[in-house]
Amino acid sequence: MPYYRSLGSVPPKRHTQHRDPEGRLYFEELMGEEGFSSDSSLLYHRGVPSSIVDSQVWELPDQSRTPNHPLKPRHLRLHALFPEPGAPSGDGPTGDSGACPVEGRRLVLGNNDVRISYVVTGADPSPYYRNAIGDECVYVESGSGVVESVFGVVSYRAQDYVVIPRATTHRWVPAQDDTGPSRLYAIEANSHIAPPKRYLSRFGQLLEHAPYCERDLHGPGETFEVSTDSTEDPRDVEVLVKHRVGSQVVGTRMTYDTHPFDVVGWDGCLYPYTFNLEDYMPITGKIHQPPPVHQVFEGHNFVICNFLPRKVDYHPLSIPVPYYHSNVDSDEVMFYVGGDYEARKGSGIGLGSISVHPGGFAHGPQPSAIEASLGAERFEETAVMIDTFAPLDLGEAGVACEDPAYAWSWSGRHTGDVATGEDGGPAVYSNS
Ligand SMILES: [Fe+2]
Repeated sequence: MPYYRSLGSVPPKRHTQHRDPEGRLYFEELMGEEGFSSDSSLLYHRGVPSSIVDSQVWELPDQSRTPNHPLKPRHLRLHALFPEPGAPSGDGPTGDSGACPVEGRRLVLGNNDVRISYVVTGADPSPYYRNAIGDECVYVESGSGVVESVFGVVSYRAQDYVVIPRATTHRWVPAQDDTGPSRLYAIEANSHIAPPKRYLSRFGQLLEHAPYCERDLHGPGETFEVSTDSTEDPRDVEVLVKHRVGSQVVGTRMTYDTHPFDVVGWDGCLYPYTFNLEDYMPITGKIHQPPPVHQVFEGHNFVICNFLPRKVDYHPLSIPVPYYHSNVDSDEVMFYVGGDYEARKGSGIGLGSISVHPGGFAHGPQPSAIEASLGAERFEETAVMIDTFAPLDLGEAGVACEDPAYAWSWSGRHTGDVATGEDGGPAVYSNS
C-alpha cells in the first residue's frame, strides 16, 4: 500500500513498551513484506500472536488443473456452477444455503502465478483464514458484507475489489440483507498485488495520470476487538492457513490459544483495502485505446484490468471495438460482469461468462460486431480482465462449466466440440 494509516492504540515510539490500563504489556508484531525491505505494519496484541496449541491438515477443495490442450479459446459460464438461491442443492459444496466464502471456492483457472476461483456464498461467515502463499484480490460481483481482519473491519459491496495482503488473518461475513448472496471472484496470487508501478511516484504516491487515487482506497475503519477484557477473549480459535509444499497448494488448520483479532491498534502501510469500479476513471482516446489504459492492479506475471462504461473513440472513421490481436505473451481472461459487451455479440457470452483467449491464438470481435459498432459513442460494458504471462490451466470448475461451442464461434462452422464429438446443441451465435 502506498500510504500510511494508524488505527487504535499505538505507542509514540515503535518497539517500546506499550501497556494496557492494568500495566500488562501488549505484544508487538511486525507484519512486513520482502524480508524487512518493503511495506509493513506494526500490530499490538493482548495475547502472544504465535501461541498455537494444535496444527492439523486442512483438506482443500479440488485444486486439480487440466492443461488447455488441444489449445482452444474457452467460454466458461460461472453462473452455472452454483444453484440460484432457493434452488435444490446438488452434489458438491453448493446448495440453496450457499457455500462458504473460503472453503466453497471452486477453482476455475490457474497456473503457478495465480489461481482464479468463484463462489456464491450463503449468509454464514467463513472460518478464520489466511493465505500464506500471496495476496488475494477478490472481486465482488454482487452482494455485500464485511471482512473482519487483524487490522479491523472493511465493508464490501458489489463491484468492489477487496485486496487482502498475504498472511492477513481474516474472515468473510456476508450481509443478511436484500443485496443477496455474495458472488466472489477470487484472484489468489503467488505474489503481492499492487497498483501498476507506472502509476506511482518514486515515493509511492498515485500520480495524476493514474485512473484512481488514494481517496478511492478504503482501509479498515475500526479495530476489531473481541472483547474489552483479555480474560473474556475466546480461546482455542481455529485458523485455516493456505500455503505451499513445494509447488503444491495445501492447507493447515491451526488452533490458537488466544484470539488473533485481539489487536488494540496498529500502524503502517500494509493492510487490507477495497476499491470500487465506480471510482475508476476510464481513459479514452480518439482511436481505440489498448488494454493497458484499463489496468488497475498488477502481480508477479499477471495484470488486472477493468473495462467500464465510457465514451469511445471520436475519430470520424474510428472502429470502436478492438482489432484482432495475438497476445503472444499472455493468456487473457475476461469476466463479463455488467452491461452489454459489444465485441462479443453473437458469441453466446453473457453476464457471468468468462472468455479465455490463450497466447498463440489471435482473437478479436465476432465479425458482425465490427460493422455494428461503427458510430457508437458509448459502450456500456463492464468486465474484469486478467492477463497472465504464463499459460493457464482449467480448474475443475472451469471444466465443469465450459460452453464447447465457443471455440468455433468466429467461423460459425460447428455447434459442438469437434475434438470430443460432443453435441453443443443449437448455435447461439449468428455471425456466419
Ligand atoms: Fe483481447
